[in-house]
Amino acid sequence: MTGTNGVSNGTNGATGDRFDPDFTRHVIENIGPATPDRPRFVLSSLIKHLHDFIREVELTPEEWMTGVQFINSIGQISTAKRNEGQRICDVLGIESLVDEVANKFMLDSDENPTSSTILGPFWSPHAPFRELGDTIVQDPYPDGKVAYMHGVVTDAKTGEPIPNTIVDIWQASSNGQYDFQDDNQSVNNLRGKFRTNEKGEYYYYCYHPTAYSLPTDGPAGKLLKLLDRHPMRPAHIHLMVSADGYKSVTTQLFPRDDPYASTDTVFAVKDDLLLDFKPSTDPKAQLDLEYNISLARLKAGQPAPFLHTVF
Ligand code: BEZ
Ligand code: FE
Repeated sequence: MTGTNGVSNGTNGATGDRFDPDFTRHVIENIGPATPDRPRFVLSSLIKHLHDFIREVELTPEEWMTGVQFINSIGQISTAKRNEGQRICDVLGIESLVDEVANKFMLDSDENPTSSTILGPFWSPHAPFRELGDTIVQDPYPDGKVAYMHGVVTDAKTGEPIPNTIVDIWQASSNGQYDFQDDNQSVNNLRGKFRTNEKGEYYYYCYHPTAYSLPTDGPAGKLLKLLDRHPMRPAHIHLMVSADGYKSVTTQLFPRDDPYASTDTVFAVKDDLLLDFKPSTDPKAQLDLEYNISLARLKAGQPAPFLHTVF
């Protein structure tokens, strides 16, 4: 049965009539008149799906209480530097799916902008602006391999370069840790924002990225163990690219030969984000990475570039 806002409310799904057929509808209809349309729609659907899930798996009281304790443990271990809730979502593919939903429907079919993928918990709003040609390596790590990364940012429809685009970059060090996680790294190590020049170009030095494990000492680790999965992310460089009048893109770039590229534990890899690092002739770098970025124009009525909140 379909209720207001298109939310089906009160079916017993595959379990037929074994359970009270009116219960879910009753819970949804108790939402008060002051609840705005969008939260009413989202919460009605959430209640319906949760109730259907409980009926479908015939959730036991012990399983329900295990789930409650698990949710509590996510909150208890979270801090300003550790967003365990987001990590649980990542392990379950939720952040990747939300990203897909947010980005698919906004595009014209003839545009092919750079694919987005998840933000993850390590973006910082405080990364410093650096000059084109600078390095983001503040604290060299013994086995870090320096890469010269460069490319052009263009309009997805016209191919014209986009000057003054902000390319915000962050990556883990060669020990697999971000500055947030590692007391031996200075603040903003391996982070930087660059503005493209009049030809739409950006260029700078970074490290060839390193695969790393999600922390396994908390709820995400327990969940991965229960799911019999490894905790590894393939090596990657994060980018958040924004320009006036264009839809921002948040993405990650992966070495094509990374052993975890096909089993990323947070499901963020897309084929067009797999890249080849090449040997460099630049005396300051061992490797060369060319990556051109393409942005879709914002259409009338589309929201301004999304500013991420951090916890
Ligand atoms: C990351 O891309 O940095 C990341 C994403 C999800 C979970 C942990 C890390
Ligand atoms: Fe990362």
